[in-house]
Amino acid sequence: MQTMFALVWNNEVRKLFCQSQRVMRVIWVAAMVGSLGALVFLVDPDDAQPHRILVDTDADTDDVFALFYLLKQDSTRFDLQAITINANGWSEAGHAINHVYDILFMMGRDDIPVGVGGEGGILPNGTILPNVGGFQPIIDQGMSTAGECRYRQAIPVAQRGRLDVNSNYGLRKAFLPQGSRRYTPLQQPTAQQVMIDAISSGPITVFLMGAHTNFAIFLMSNPHLKKNVKHVYAMGGSVRPNCPKINSSDSSGECSDIGNLYPQDSNPYAEFNIFSDPFAAYKVLHFGIPVTLIPLDATNTIPLSKSFFMEFERRQNTYEAKYSFQALKIIRDTWLSDAFHEQYCMWDSFLVGVALSIIRNSHNLYGENEFAEMQYMNITVVTSNEPYGALDGSNPLITGYSTPRFNVQKNGVHSGHVQMGMQDPFCLQKGKGKCQDGYTKEGTGEDAVRVLVATKAKPNHDNRSILGREFYKSFLHVINSPERTGRFDIRTQYPFHREFLYKPDFGKKIRGKPVVFDMDMSAGDFLALLYLLKLPVELINLKGILISSTGWATPATIDVVYDILHMMARDDIPVGLGEAFAVGQANPSFAAIGDCKYSKAIPHGSGGYLDSDTLYGLARDLPRSPRRYTTENSVKFGDPRDTDNPGLRQPSAQEVWKSIVESLDPGSKITILTNGPLTNLAQIILSENTSSLIQGVYIVGGHTGYVYDNSEGNVFTVPSNKYAEFNMFLDPLAAKEVFTSSVDIRLVPLQMQRRVSSFSTILNRMNATTQTPEVVFAQHLLSRLWRLQQEHYRYHHMDIFLGEILGAAILAGNPHLNQTFTLKPLKVLADGDITKIGEIVIDEEKGKQVTILENFNPETYYDHFVRVLGDHRQSAVLGSFHEQERMWNSPPEKMNFVHNQQV
Ligand SMILES: *[C@@H]1O[C@H](CO)[C@@H](O)[C@H](O)[C@H]1NC(C)=O
Ligand SMILES: *[C@@H]1O[C@H](CO)[C@@H](O)[C@H](O)[C@H]1NC(C)=O
Ligand SMILES: *[C@@H]1O[C@H](CO)[C@@H](O)[C@H](O)[C@H]1NC(C)=O
Ligand SMILES: *[C@@H]1O[C@H](CO)[C@@H](O)[C@H](O)[C@H]1NC(C)=O
Ligand SMILES: *[C@@H]1O[C@H](CO)[C@@H](O)[C@H](O)[C@H]1NC(C)=O
Ligand SMILES: *[C@@H]1O[C@H](CO)[C@@H](O)[C@H](O)[C@H]1NC(C)=O
Ligand SMILES: *[C@@H]1O[C@H](CO)[C@@H](O)[C@H](O)[C@H]1NC(C)=O
Repeated sequence: MQTMFALVWNNEVRKLFCQSQRVMRVIWVAAMVGSLGALVFLVDPDDAQPHRILVDTDADTDDVFALFYLLKQDSTRFDLQAITINANGWSEAGHAINHVYDILFMMGRDDIPVGVGGEGGILPNGTILPNVGGFQPIIDQGMSTAGECRYRQAIPVAQRGRLDVNSNYGLRKAFLPQGSRRYTPLQQPTAQQVMIDAISSGPITVFLMGAHTNFAIFLMSNPHLKKNVKHVYAMGGSVRPNCPKINSSDSSGECSDIGNLYPQDSNPYAEFNIFSDPFAAYKVLHFGIPVTLIPLDATNTIPLSKSFFMEFERRQNTYEAKYSFQALKIIRDTWLSDAFHEQYCMWDSFLVGVALSIIRNSHNLYGENEFAEMQYMNITVVTSNEPYGALDGSNPLITGYSTPRFNVQKNGVHSGHVQMGMQDPFCLQKGKGKCQDGYTKEGTGEDAVRVLVATKAKPNHDNRSILGREFYKSFLHVINSPERTGRFDIRTQYPFHREFLYKPDFGKKIRGKPVVFDMDMSAGDFLALLYLLKLPVELINLKGILISSTGWATPATIDVVYDILHMMARDDIPVGLGEAFAVGQANPSFAAIGDCKYSKAIPHGSGGYLDSDTLYGLARDLPRSPRRYTTENSVKFGDPRDTDNPGLRQPSAQEVWKSIVESLDPGSKITILTNGPLTNLAQIILSENTSSLIQGVYIVGGHTGYVYDNSEGNVFTVPSNKYAEFNMFLDPLAAKEVFTSSVDIRLVPLQMQRRVSSFSTILNRMNATTQTPEVVFAQHLLSRLWRLQQEHYRYHHMDIFLGEILGAAILAGNPHLNQTFTLKPLKVLADGDITKIGEIVIDEEKGKQVTILENFNPETYYDHFVRVLGDHRQSAVLGSFHEQERMWNSPPEKMNFVHNQQV
C-alpha cells in the first residue's frame, strides 16, 4: 500500500512539476512535507528532467539482464539514449549488434540508436582518427581492424566463451523476435558517432559494462564534451575482494584470487572488463569525471544463489524474465563445477541497480543507495609492470617511437612491461603469476584517483525473505513488472508460428558420390554450398558439413549454415563444428583459450568478421531454421549435467565425420571438399582408421603460381608475407599435416580462383537466368560484395570470396569446364618466420605429389554455375525470412505448400 501510494504520488507530483515553474515545486514540496514526511526525499529538483543514460556493453548474457532492468524503468526518469557495442570483449561485433537490435525490438524500443565498429584508426604519432571501431585495445590500435589479441586471448573462444555469448547459449535465435533493424555494411552507425550524438546533446550518465575502449577513445578525441558527462558507472576491476579487512598498516595483506582471469599463472590481479583494455580504463578513471566502480569486491557478494534461482524459476511473468531465466538455467546446467551458485554473480545488472539507486538519491556525496555499501578509495589502473622504462619490446606505446604515443612518460607508469598474452614468460610463475595489467589497485601516490567503490551487496531488509540480498528482490520485481514489458517472442509474434524440419524425398534415385564439405563460412562458401545442394543428387550426395572455425567467420555463424540448409529443405544434412583454434594455438594449460598468431590476420571490422558473421547483413533474409547452435549437452558427451534438451546438442566435426563414416555403404569412400583452413581435415587424417576411407580431397587454396609469374598471395593484412594464401596461412601446421599425409589431393590454387573473380560477368549471367530463390539470394550477396568493393577500400579483397566457389565446380567435374591438372611435389612452410608461413614451395625431394588445377574454361564455369543455381529442381522450399513470416501468418491448411524436390 505504502509503496503504491508513493508511486502514484510521485508520478502525479512529477507530472505537475514538468509543467510548472521551479517555484511551484518548492511550494508543493513544502505543502506535502507535513503529510508525507520522509517520502519527500524521492523528489529532487533534477527529477523533472529524465536522467539521460548511455550504455556501452559487450552484450554478454549478464549485460542483457542489465539492459532489461534499465529498459523497464520509467523512461521519464531514466531514459536510455543510446547503446554502443564494446567489440573487444566477450562477444563478436556482428552477433552482438543484432542481438541488441532483437532485444530492443522485443521491448518496443527501436528508437534507441545502437553503434558498433568503425574503420578509423590511430596514426603512429598518436592522432586518433574519427570512428575508431574499438576492436583493439587502444595501445594496439593502428590503422587496421586486424591485430593482436594480447588481452582478449584471456576470453574463451568457443564453448563457455564468445560462441555461447554470441548465440546466448543458443537461445537468442530460438526466442527473440526479429525486427527491421540489422547491421548493414557501411550504413551501420559507428560506436563513436553514436557516443558523440548522445553525449553532445545534453548532460548524460555513462554505464560501462565491458572494456572501456570506446569511451576512452571518445574522451581522448572529444575532450570538449567531457562537461556533458555527469558521472561514469563501471562494472569492473577488483580492489580488495574476499580479503580479510586490510589494515592500512598492513598493506602486504594481499589475498589470493583478486582477479577472475583463468588460469591465474600469469595475472591473478585483473578482472576481465578492465584487463580487456587497461590503458582505456586508466584514461577513463583519470579523466576527471566522477567515477563509481562496481568491482568484483561487491559482485562476489551477490552470487546467483540457489534460493534466488528457484524464486526466479517461479516468477517468469514477462518475455524478458523468461529469456533471462532460460539463459541462466542453461548456464547453470552446463557449468563445469558444482559451484555455479557461488561463482556466477550479478555483475552488470547489479551495476545498473546500484547506479540507478544512487541517481535516485541525487548522486549524494557518499553514494548511499539501497543495494550496495560504498566506500571511497584512491585507486589507479595498472597498465604496465615494473621496472618502468624497460624497453623490452612488449610496450607498443614506447617501442619504435622517439616520442612515446599519447605523451606518456618514458619512465612513467605506462612504460613498463605490458603483458603479451596469457603465456607471456615475463608474467608466468607457478601458481600465481606476477603481472598486474588491469589491476584496479589502491594507491597513495598522486597517480591514484578518488573513486567511489561498491564493496558489498546489502542484505535484504526483510530478514525473513529467502532472498538474501536487497537487489535480488528489486531485480525480480523489475524484470517481472508488467510495465514496459516485451511485446512477444518469436513464437507469439505470429498467429501460426510453427517449426518444421524439411527432408528431401529423392525417391528411388541412386545417390552419387558421397561428399563432405568443409567450410569456414566466408561469403563464397555459402554460394559454394548452394551450388552443391543444387547439383543432382545422382551426381553429388552431400553427406555432411564440417565447420572450420579457424577461418573468416566466428563459430556462432554456424546458424547461417543451418538456415541455408533449411531454405533448401536439407535439414537432414548434419553439421559439425570444428576446433576453435589452429593447431598449436590453444593454451597448453587451459585449452578453451588460446593465441591468435594466424587468425590475427583477419580484420574484425569491415570485410572481416563483422561482415562474415552477418553474411554482409544478408543472413537475416534467410528463413530461420529450427536447427541452430546450442549449448545443450548431456552427461553422455562428458558434460557435468544433462540440460533440458540434450537431443538438440551441437555435434562436433569429429562426431559428424564419424557418423558419416559409419553410415557408408561397404566399399564406398568419401570425397572431401575444403574451402577454408585445413584444421578439420588434419584432425580427420590423424584420427585412427578413417583416412583410408577418403577417396580424395579437393582443397581450395594455396598459392603455387608465384613460382612462374611472381604473383603475390592474398594475406593482405600481413604485408611482409608475400606469397601465402589465407587458407594455408590460417592453420599452417594443419596444412603441413595434410600435405605430408597419404591422401590424394587436388588443389584449386589461388591463381586459378583469380580467373573467375569477375563480379560483372557472374551477375550478368544471373540476370539472364531463372530467378529461383537461390539465384535471388546469390545475386543479392554478390552484388553487395561488388558494390562494397567499389565503394570502400576496406572491401578491396572481395574477389577472394568469389574465387572460392570454383572448388565445388571442379569437384562436380563438368566436362565442359575442360579442366586440366598437373602433378607437382609440394610442401607447405609452417614454421619459422611470419614472412614465409603458409607459403607453398615445390620440393622435388621432400614434396608430396599433388594434383594441381592447371587450366579450365572460365566462360563455361560462369555459365555452368549460374545454370545449376537457376535450375528449378532441388530448389528452395522457403525462399526467405519474409516468406517464412507469411507462412507463420496463415493457418496451416491454407498453406499451398509445394515441396519442390522432384528432380
Ligand atoms: C600526426 O601525423 C599526421 C599525418 O602524418 C599529421 O597530419 C598530424 O599533424 C600529426 N599530429 C601530430 C600531433 O604530430
Ligand atoms: C589495524 O591495526 C591496528 C594496529 O595494528 C589495530 O589496532 C586495529 O585494530 C587494526 N584494525 C583492523 C580493522 O584490523
Ligand atoms: C585519497 O587521497 C586523498 C588526497 O589525494 C586523501 O585526502 C584521502 O585521505 C585518500 N583516501 C584514502 C581512502 O586513502
Ligand atoms: C529480523 O529483524 C528483526 C527486526 O530488525 C529482528 O528483531 C529479528 O531478530 C531479526 N531476525 C533474525 C532471524 O535475524
Ligand atoms: C581401427 O581398426 C582396427 C582394425 O580394423 C580395429 O581393431 C580398431 O578398433 C579400429 N579403431 C577405431 C578407433 O575404430
Ligand atoms: C541486372 O539487372 C538489373 C535490372 O534489370 C540491372 O539493374 C543490373 O545492372 C543488371 N546487372 C548486371 C550485372 O548486368
Ligand atoms: C575443350 O577441350 C576440347 C578438346 O581439348 C576442345 O575441342 C574444346 O573446344 C574445348 N572446349 C572449350 C569450351 O574450351
